Amino acid sequence: MVRHFLDIHRLSAEDLRAILDDAHARKKSRQGWPKGRVDADAPARDRVLAMVFEKNSTRTRFSFDAAIRQLGGSAIIANAADMQLGRGEPVEDTAKVLSRMVDAVMIRANDHEDVERFARVSSVPVVNALTDRSHPCQILADLLTIEEHRGPVKGKTIAWVGDGNNVCHSFMHAAPKLGFTLNVACPAEYHPDLRDLAKGGDHVHLTSDPREAVRGADVVVTDTWVSMGDQDYEDRLAAFEAYGVDDALMDEAAEDAVFLHCLPAHRGEEVSDAVIDGPRSLVWDEAENRIHAQKAVLAWCFEAF
Ligand code: CP
Ligand code: NVA
Repeated sequence: MVRHFLDIHRLSAEDLRAILDDAHARKKSRQGWPKGRVDADAPARDRVLAMVFEKNSTRTRFSFDAAIRQLGGSAIIANAADMQLGRGEPVEDTAKVLSRMVDAVMIRANDHEDVERFARVSSVPVVNALTDRSHPCQILADLLTIEEHRGPVKGKTIAWVGDGNNVCHSFMHAAPKLGFTLNVACPAEYHPDLRDLAKGGDHVHLTSDPREAVRGADVVVTDTWVSMGDQDYEDRLAAFEAYGVDDALMDEAAEDAVFLHCLPAHRGEEVSDAVIDGPRSLVWDEAENRIHAQKAVLAWCFEAF
């Protein structure tokens, strides 16, 4: 069986824990090293990763490229618009061709179903690097960051404030696997997809009140109110007006609560300058941790553990 990394709810709790543990260990083992040095075990030695982007990216693009190099492999990066995909070549044909040329494929796609279609015929591992539906690599980095600063995530309470979007869905997928509580506060018209909500089971609590969600939480997380591909910019800004994370909202959380945001951020909208640039913010560690998390994902795909 090829090991695809498509969504967190597809992983066993054991595999998810093993991926996080590998990420922690890999990060620790290379402290102080130059960023280009290859890990001692080089689990991707001689392997090539294709990176395909249908949407913009800074963190995902650089962190996956850095990650495969640190694992001893190399990357080929392409924007889908420059490929024949952009002129309508079927996803399945593209998947069959790339399977003959590379050892794994990372895809950032508009439509989640396209990644599923790609994986169904790919004979090499496929990694979901964000779709309209989910962003599992981001959540791994977030969990890694929480555990570095606050210990095991099991038993913790995480508050998601804002849009019930792709990143929120991946948090919901992770909650029952790792045993944390997720309080989600969003306006009724921008609630998460009910299929993803169901995957969170009784670990996820939905409300429209940000204060209720944040009260006593160990972690407060938000994301842009207007994701890539969303068209209704003005309607969204109006609907989310009461959902900005500022110091007053953070003060409702636990005394040692931390703040996360996958970035890019919109200061003055979903988060205030004081919070994102303040002492409770872990966003730069979170961004760096994309490298360490993705290395563990790739090592898992290559069956290094
Ligand atoms: N957080 C994240 O995925 O960032 P990019 O869109 O820059 O890759
Ligand atoms: N929800 C955001 C995440 C960006 C990393 C988007 O999909 O645009």
